[in-house]
Amino acid sequence: MIRCALNGAPAALPGGMTLLQALRAQGLNTPRFGCGEERCGACHVLLEGRSTPSCALPVEAAEGRAVVTLEGLGGRAAPHPLQRAFLAEEAGQCGFCLAGIIVTAAALLRENPDPDEASLRAALDPHLCRCGSHNRILRAIRRAAAEMRA
Ligand code: FES
Ligand code: FES
Repeated sequence: MIRCALNGAPAALPGGMTLLQALRAQGLNTPRFGCGEERCGACHVLLEGRSTPSCALPVEAAEGRAVVTLEGLGGRAAPHPLQRAFLAEEAGQCGFCLAGIIVTAAALLRENPDPDEASLRAALDPHLCRCGSHNRILRAIRRAAAEMRA
């Protein structure tokens, strides 16, 4: 078993699979399988605070480390400002890409509470949105950043 901190609580994940498979086996279904080749961003989670693709990463890489999925950022009862902002801006259609994008945005805003346009776009570069929601996604992140700074 792989021992780690998962969404702030001690966890034991099964070995011999990818981190994404192990997380989904725990019932955490916000990280999604898209390309499986670290090329689309759908599977991103925070690993020691860094946005990281989980689809090809052996779960063993999480040993002794902190893993956070979108579920760990917030939920219906206590949403993260990014989650509130994405809803307010209706940023997304199918939602497939959003968990990965939101964890990346959370990592960015933790490091840089007031990112300029170039930093924002560079951070989101690993993420594809097939629905073309990019402008709304950018608006939502800017909205959350402003709220978090206030
Ligand atoms: S599923 Fe991991 S980056 Fe596409
Ligand atoms: S909202 Fe559908 S892929 Fe982004």
